[in-house]
Amino acid sequence: MGRTIRSPEANLTSHLIPTCADRPGDDPIFSLNAEAIRRAAQGEGILNSTLGALMKDDGTMAVMPSVFEAFQRVSSEAAAAYAPISGPPAFLDAVIEDLFGSGPLASDAVGAATPGGTGACYQAIVNFLEPGQKLLTTSFYWGPYRILAEHSSRGIETFEMFSPDGSFHCEALGSALDKMFDQQGRVLLVLNTPCHNPTGFSLDDKDWNDLVTIVRRAAKKGPLTVLFDFAYAKFASPGSIRWPRHVGRLQGEATLVFAWSASKAFAQYGARVGACIAIGTDEKENTRLRNALGFSCRGTWSNCNHLGMLAITELLCDPDLRQRSDAERDMLRSLLSERVDAFNELARARELAYPRYEGGFFVTVFSSDAKRVAASMREEGVYVVPVGGGVRVAICSTPTQHMEQLVDALVHGVEAAGAI
Ligand SMILES: Cc1ncc(COP(=O)(O)O)c(C=O)c1O
Repeated sequence: MGRTIRSPEANLTSHLIPTCADRPGDDPIFSLNAEAIRRAAQGEGILNSTLGALMKDDGTMAVMPSVFEAFQRVSSEAAAAYAPISGPPAFLDAVIEDLFGSGPLASDAVGAATPGGTGACYQAIVNFLEPGQKLLTTSFYWGPYRILAEHSSRGIETFEMFSPDGSFHCEALGSALDKMFDQQGRVLLVLNTPCHNPTGFSLDDKDWNDLVTIVRRAAKKGPLTVLFDFAYAKFASPGSIRWPRHVGRLQGEATLVFAWSASKAFAQYGARVGACIAIGTDEKENTRLRNALGFSCRGTWSNCNHLGMLAITELLCDPDLRQRSDAERDMLRSLLSERVDAFNELARARELAYPRYEGGFFVTVFSSDAKRVAASMREEGVYVVPVGGGVRVAICSTPTQHMEQLVDALVHGVEAAGAI
């Protein structure tokens, strides 16, 4: 047996490779949450609006009973076995049907199971960008996009999300697409809509029309992939679900990728059930896409949570369970809508600056000094997350009866920080 020889210097330097030796520890959102919980345990009255899970007004987790019934229906033997590498075909078919019904997009879609929507974003990054290239997304974005990109030796570039009148900045998107094609010859555009995290913004019909025009034009320059991150799609208010009217207009022009997730849709954040669904520009390409996605599964998580995927398949395919889970989700969405309405009413009256917010787990209140706003709010015992350009407020975990306290603290925080 060999013996490890330790030199005195060896203890002074990390054995990690240099890029990994200086990683941050805790995720900042989880750290803020931990601090809020610690202060509450010490008896302080704390309002914690940091965490992205839907909580009931009594502060307990909102769950869907039908989902647990579906889990119980799965046999121990089936659950214990390895899942197919790309996921059970029935699961993928059910997800595709859930996304597109039986429309033309459904017959052209291929996919692979992923651990939540996070895994689907990872799949898109490693399969549509070369190492060293950057994904393109909005200036407000879900922080892990950067982590996923940098962890796989890719990067991130952003374009201004809002134009001065508060609408989606399609012009900025158009210029950014041109620039990225000039720089790297291919583009992966990541759009999180409806119910964008962190802003709560959903594209409206005009935004979609402009987006379709811009993407079609840009796609003539080279390979363009658009990843639609649908993490919160099932919590959009019915009037703000516009993508089904528009997305098909991009078929054949760009590669369309959809990050589908059961985390929010079935209130199963811990089950890690998701899928990366892709629609290529032709049939041959779809075979390549299917193979590439499967290869990445094998090269990372190998295969996903079999019990979770079988249960979600049951929920999507059994008419009775599906109807019950839809009804249970409708109730959760109503709970959220009540809070969204309360927030909008109070925040408008106090003239807080924030984007159009029609539904979804989060909203962002704009500020150029978000850290100061959040710090001032913490002094009042109210926790929100500072992000570039504002503070992210988790309406999903803020009980309706505390909305006034939340808006008061936001107003005080913005005043303390000075100019917007
Ligand atoms: C914008 C966005 N995309 C994707 C995800 C992925 O979540 P999951 O991996 O649990 O599906 C999240 C979760 O918070 C999110 O906020």
